[in-house]
Amino acid sequence: MVIMGASSGIGLAVARALASRGVRVGLAARRLEPLRELQRLYPDSVEIAEIDINSADAPGRLHELIERLGGMEIYFHVAGIGYDNPDFKPEREASILETNAVGFARMVSSAYGWFSKRGNGGQIAAVTSVAGTNGIGPLSAYSASKKCAQTYLTALEHLSRSRHDNIVITDIRPGWIATPLLRADRRYPMAMSIEYALPQILKAIVRGRRIVYIDCRWGLVAAAWRLIPNCLWTRMRIPVDLPK
Ligand SMILES: NC(=O)c1ccc[n+]([C@@H]2O[C@H](COP(=O)([O-])OP(=O)(O)OC[C@H]3O[C@@H](n4cnc5c(N)ncnc54)[C@H](OP(=O)(O)O)[C@@H]3O)[C@@H](O)[C@H]2O)c1
Repeated sequence: MVIMGASSGIGLAVARALASRGVRVGLAARRLEPLRELQRLYPDSVEIAEIDINSADAPGRLHELIERLGGMEIYFHVAGIGYDNPDFKPEREASILETNAVGFARMVSSAYGWFSKRGNGGQIAAVTSVAGTNGIGPLSAYSASKKCAQTYLTALEHLSRSRHDNIVITDIRPGWIATPLLRADRRYPMAMSIEYALPQILKAIVRGRRIVYIDCRWGLVAAAWRLIPNCLWTRMRIPVDLPK
């Protein structure tokens, strides 16, 4: 498995869980030190690469990592950013979309291309978010980027079926999980620990589920949000508070 965004939070937890069980993993992110640490602990299981998904050379670096790993059965895309933008600075909005939508498409399409060329199927799993359900005012760019990623995954499933590529698509949609993405000094409604969320994320990947909400309570929240007409939704207050 290749994990893109393995240096922190969800990606790091999945990387540690798999490497400690002897699964061969290719770990990538911009920060190498957390990846090196895992490689020191599990040298037979871990290959690492410094990859910035916003860089044009990222697909080439991914393919080089896959080669060192000796192949890939699952591409797991976790890399993403999110922060508050109370002053609504255009550059900060653009930066979220650059990473979560453009960088996402760059890397996921690259993984799809690799599987497709190999001709033996495969799986692309990605972490999107409950935030992709509706547009959330204080998280405008973030919620739009996650909706984009979700639609992109649906399009890839469509492509895989029409071309008989046999590439399984898994979309993991968490609610709040306590990772460095969130502010340490704030309480988030229905926030989950990574220890609680991890087995559910692993199960979703192993079972090749199409769309999974982490956890079922957040699945109910998303289902309720989908039922709310836009004229009501845009009058509701959604409490969110990401790091500045
Ligand atoms: N935590 C939550 O409540 C929550 C809820 C729903 C969805 N999610 C989603 O889950 C994913 C992981 O979030 P997290 O909570 O684990 O956050 P995190 O602890 O901040 O981890 C983010 C990961 O993404 C990587 N990343 C960011 N920009 C990158 C880039 N340009 N190139 C390569 N890697 C990049 C980071 O690595 P480097 O900085 O080292 O590059 C890091 O490994 C995100 O997509 C997030 O939107 C999180």
